[in-house]
Amino acid sequence: MTICEPTRLLVTGGAGFIGSNFVHWVATHHPEVKMVVLDKLTYAGNLANLDGVPEEQLTFVQGDICDEALVDELMASVDAVVHFAAESHNDNSIADPAPFVRTNVEGTFTLLEAARRHGTRFHHISTDEVYGDLALDDPARFTEETPYHPSSPYSSTKAASDMLVRAWHRTYGVNATISNCSNNYGPRQHIEKFIPRQITNILAGIRPKLYGDGLNVRDWIHVDDHSSAVWAILTQGQAGETYLIGADGERDNRTVMADILTAMGQESDAFDWVRDRPGHDRRYAIDSTKLRRELGWEPTHQDFSEGLADTIRWYQENEAWWQDAKAATEQKYQKLGQ
Ligand code: NAD
Ligand code: TYD
Repeated sequence: MTICEPTRLLVTGGAGFIGSNFVHWVATHHPEVKMVVLDKLTYAGNLANLDGVPEEQLTFVQGDICDEALVDELMASVDAVVHFAAESHNDNSIADPAPFVRTNVEGTFTLLEAARRHGTRFHHISTDEVYGDLALDDPARFTEETPYHPSSPYSSTKAASDMLVRAWHRTYGVNATISNCSNNYGPRQHIEKFIPRQITNILAGIRPKLYGDGLNVRDWIHVDDHSSAVWAILTQGQAGETYLIGADGERDNRTVMADILTAMGQESDAFDWVRDRPGHDRRYAIDSTKLRRELGWEPTHQDFSEGLADTIRWYQENEAWWQDAKAATEQKYQKLGQ
């Protein structure tokens, strides 16, 4: 049953990693849908991420989701919003939490108020990190009923934004849904993140860096599977509901590191052990039964070695995309001892 049939979508953060992949996914699968991308183009945003999206389908607006007048004007022109914009990196949030509180909390508030005024369908993109972490020997996985227990400034601001969305639905009747997804990988991910950092380190002749004991587990999902899940929730999800998105991709960091090194023709132990992240979450794992049962969604990119090979190829073929950010990113990590 289709509940929402968007014809004009506002996509916040659409020049970032997941937002831009979603815009490409919609352009491919729903060429009738027009999209307005609102993005501040922080260090993490890149207009080149939208290259190839048909011009007639896309309007790009550079701006801040905390800008009430701009958000109000854009909200009036669409029938649904998919809200990806955020400060998204844990290590940055530990070094300087202020922009996380502003963008993730105040920005979400500003968007919700505009959606309330205009009666706009609102889908909020969140993370499984709001649930905190699981022990390595715990068979449990996160479900929609798991209590919130965020560890980092990043995850706590995402948890706060989820709470605002729930309250704006219950109190004001905003037609909102939330999805909490596990770790994404794929093309166009900023090179500060684990997988692209190691790929571009190897390409740049720098030894890859593994935090702590390397046994931390992440539940990897290909970004295109995240996009198809978001579309399913946007169009068929029930107002006020939360859906967890995951593709059964649990792997520890040491294994992923070895996979990257081997796929790139290096010895599997050719990396440096570096200082652990303070408060480092041990394990994330998603049970996505609700999304699969209620909305019939299934992931289609579950072959991790194939997805990883494609991702490595993308960074090899798009050196100009990441080259300029490499030195600054590694300098930032050097200061943190990572
Ligand atoms: P990203 O850092 O690659 O992109 C964020 C985008 O938001 C950038 O284009 C940036 O310019 C823009 N932005 C930042 N502040 C803004 C502001 N004040 N106004 C307008 N635009 C602003 O992040 P990502 O990895 O693509 O994550 C997107 C969303 O998905 C986030 O909400 C994140 O919490 C969530 N998420 C990410 C993952 C993951 O594995 N990366 C997993 C689950 C959920
Ligand atoms: P990251 O990509 O930052 O995602 P998140 O913190 O949202 O899970 O990191 C993924 C995992 O990889 C996390 O356990 C931290 C670890 N990590 C490293 O071991 N080395 C690195 O250089 C980075 C950036 C992360």
